[in-house]
This record gives sequence, structure tokens and C-alpha cells, in this order.
Amino acid sequence: MEFDAIKIEVENLTLSYGKRVVFENLSFDIFPRSITALVGPSGIGKSSFLKILNQMIREEEGLHVEGKVLLHNKGLSVDILKLKECELPSLRKKVLYVAQHPDLLPLSIYDNVAFGLRLQGIGKNDINNRIEMSLRDVFLWDEVKERLHVKADILSGGQQQRLILARALAMRPDVLLLDEPTASLNEELSLKIEDLLISLKQKMTIVMISHFKEQVKRVADVIFEMRLPS
Ligand SMILES: Nc1ncnc2c1ncn2[C@@H]1O[C@H](COP(=O)(O)OP(=O)(O)O)[C@@H](O)[C@H]1O
Ligand SMILES: [Mg+2]
Repeated sequence: MEFDAIKIEVENLTLSYGKRVVFENLSFDIFPRSITALVGPSGIGKSSFLKILNQMIREEEGLHVEGKVLLHNKGLSVDILKLKECELPSLRKKVLYVAQHPDLLPLSIYDNVAFGLRLQGIGKNDINNRIEMSLRDVFLWDEVKERLHVKADILSGGQQQRLILARALAMRPDVLLLDEPTASLNEELSLKIEDLLISLKQKMTIVMISHFKEQVKRVADVIFEMRLPS
């Protein structure tokens, strides 16, 4: 399947809330067909960084972002910090953030995945195919195929975490931002999700936050460590 190989260049990125600086002058490159892992202590700004990449964070009050985040795609480069409001939906179609804590809609398992697909005008057969494929990808299909139309909130924490990953995959993003994607999974499932990510990187740019050192060693091509100023 065709996909857009997106490279992201972060240049002197500084984030502050009010007078408090969270991080300052971050500069690094994020490459397509690879997994970049972000590591560092709690509160250092890892989640905030991912949310800057799809511009979810621009909506927050008292917040200041400086620097550049250049997104290179098909010979074109844009600074995502300079995008207009009306350009954000197309950014967020390419660059998808998967939250650490499942942010499910109060809908069925099926509709949680179908929701974004319908908004994109995707037809019913294609939606059904994508739902089955993405639920299989995250090893959830066999657990839910008999009850796709029950409320998603009856699922366990680990099932919900796989469901929000499936929801993202069904959208076929070019850049996948993962915030602790295996935090509520047991070891066996975590290893399966790691293998999934390694196979997905052939057609995506992946940035993930993980505090599991062994996991980072196993899956990351590049590790970017965020440190407290010394
Ligand atoms: N909306 C907000 N307003 C003020 N401070 C915030 C807001 N969101 C996050 N922060 C602060 O920014 C810092 C970085 O948070 P976060 O990005 O969640 O860190 P991490 O993911 O590395 O644990 C924390 O000190 C957090 O309290
Ligand atoms: Mg976080």
C-alpha cells in the first residue's frame, strides 16, 4: 500500500506553561521507517512533546511554544507550528496521537473504530474490513468479534489500550505517536505489540514514549533522552 514517508525535524523547540519552562531548545530528527523512542523522567514533557507534533497542544491556555517543527513530505516542507486552524484536520489525519489512558467514546467497540472513518467519508464495506484488520493487528479480534456492538467501556484496561491502537491503525496514519502503548498490557501481549510496531515501521514514522528500558532496547532505532537541566 502507498504511504507517505514523513521526516520530522525538530529545531530549538521550547515549551513553557506560563512562566514555567518544561523543556528548552530540543533539536533532533525523526526518520520515516523507524521507531524513535522518547525516554526521560516523569514530568519532563514527553507527552506534551507528542501533542505538539499533531498540534493538540496549541489548544491549551497559558502555553508557549517556540522553535520549529518541520514536517517533510514528498519534497514539501511545512512548519507545523505555523499551520492555520483550518489546516489542522489534514495534519491530524497524517499524524495520529494514541493517548496513554484510553480515551474511548461512549459508544460500541465497532463505533469507536468506525467514528473517524465515517468522518472521512469511507464506505461501509471498507469500514468493516478496516475494523477487522486493525482489531486483528492488535490481537483483539478474537476477544471481541462476537460483541462488536456492545459498549467499549466493558472492556478491560488492556483491551481498551489495544482498541485505541486499533482505532488509530484503521485511519492508516503516516506518523504514529504512541504514549506508553503497552503500559496496561501483560508481558506476552506487550511483546506481541512490540512485534506489531516493528512490522508497522516499514510503512510509517513511529514515535513512542516508553519507560520500559528493555522494550526501548528491543524496538527503538533511535533513542532520544529528555533530561533535567544539570
Ligand atoms: N495544560 C497544562 N498546564 C500547565 N502545565 C501542564 C499542562 N500540561 C502539562 N503540564 C506540565 O508540563 C510538564 C510536562 O508534562 P508531560 O508532558 O505530561 O510530561 P511526561 O509525559 O514526560 O510525564 C509537567 O510538569 C506538567 O505538569
Ligand atoms: Mg506522559
